Amino acid sequence: MAGSVPGASPGLFAERVSRIGTEEAFKLGPLLREVEADGRRVIRCNLGQPDFPLPAHITEAVVAALRAGHTTYCDPQGLPELREAIATAVGRDRGLDVDPRRVVVYPGSRPSIGLTQHAYVRAGDEVVYPTPGYPLYESFVDYVGGTPVPVPLHEDTGFALTGDELAPHLSARTRLIYLNFPSNPTGGVASPEQLADIARVILEATPPTTRVYSDEAYEAITFDGARHASIASMPGMAERTIIASAVSKTYSWTGGRVGWAVFPTVEEALVQRNLNINYYASIPPYSQLGAKVALESPESPPAIAAMVEAFQRRRDFVIDGLNRIPGVRCQMPRGAFYAFPNIAGVVAALGAEEAWRGLPDEVRGRSSPSTLAALFLLYRYRVATMDRRSFGVRGSEGQHFLRLSIATGDDDLREALRRLEQAAADPKGFADFVRSGERLAY
Ligand SMILES: Cc1ncc(COP(=O)(O)O)c(C=O)c1O
Repeated sequence: MAGSVPGASPGLFAERVSRIGTEEAFKLGPLLREVEADGRRVIRCNLGQPDFPLPAHITEAVVAALRAGHTTYCDPQGLPELREAIATAVGRDRGLDVDPRRVVVYPGSRPSIGLTQHAYVRAGDEVVYPTPGYPLYESFVDYVGGTPVPVPLHEDTGFALTGDELAPHLSARTRLIYLNFPSNPTGGVASPEQLADIARVILEATPPTTRVYSDEAYEAITFDGARHASIASMPGMAERTIIASAVSKTYSWTGGRVGWAVFPTVEEALVQRNLNINYYASIPPYSQLGAKVALESPESPPAIAAMVEAFQRRRDFVIDGLNRIPGVRCQMPRGAFYAFPNIAGVVAALGAEEAWRGLPDEVRGRSSPSTLAALFLLYRYRVATMDRRSFGVRGSEGQHFLRLSIATGDDDLREALRRLEQAAADPKGFADFVRSGERLAY
């Protein structure tokens, strides 16, 4: 959603910068430092990064690459040997034949979200994305002059997306459709049947030039034996799907900044190659060589399995604990590493809706009842979470959710549950917090 440039001198910035949104999670860093200035720690349930070290074999590969002098510019589309490794892994896991010339490497999986909108979306073209969903899909739409088409996901169906739910949002004007399984923030995982159903309506309603951006950043993190499936594996979809992923979540390597996208054609990959030249020249080759080892080493699958096992164990006690808190209701995530509880009962118990309505216009527009609950938790109970608005502003009105990351130690998670329960039963403290006017929006 379009933001503003607070405090900017008139005439300083081009109008377009007010049209790009943001990822609120990154705004939390300074707030955490502010709260921790008295030396007492905040429990971090806000982070979208695994709390595991980078596996040693990948660290060694990066160090070896640095020592060998891989510190220069390199192929702007990605090192050919890494593109080979990506093509093999993506093709093998999805039953596809992937030409490495269709692979583009980026600094993480974020850049391809915006750069695909740059490449495909003309003024007024429709961009379809899930809400709640990863915020950067929505963030870019106004910036590139597209028309946002949020598709609501419903709690009562486990935030699954069906073909019937998607169909009314598709037309000949649809240029890009963002799908994200396993999903941030809901933890939804799509079955092959569900993907076949979604593919059917896409093929019926949209022209062959419509592209599906399948964000598979959490592809390795699925629970209860569920296996990740990609829409690209459905008949007729490989020709339309951009498959995107990264090392960030799978290998617990958010600082490596290596991501990739596989495009339906070489021509499309070459357009991205040129955008890469314009924006980054190239991605650090030592990170890319580490990513190649990550994708190919037999030491990677056991490291991933250990991490996923820890996430599943935490998920089990966190969701159980959340559902025991009066006013909280939480679906069982089947992938990724987030809990996304409905806190409508807590919002009611705290009087957060009325408090939000009473805020000055300017603050109310950047806040919501669940924002107030999240900030109350942060400032008075020292637990950092994200609010519903952080996962798509459009369509978030009247919805009261928090996102808690379970990429945090077990003891911290148990303590966070205790504090959430205390905060939920503290309307007096909440009223005092709102009266203080401390921080009522991010
Ligand atoms: C769904 C989704 N896509 C993409 C990203 C971006 O990941 P990266 O750090 O690789 O840019 C994230 C990060 O939180 C995410 O949740």
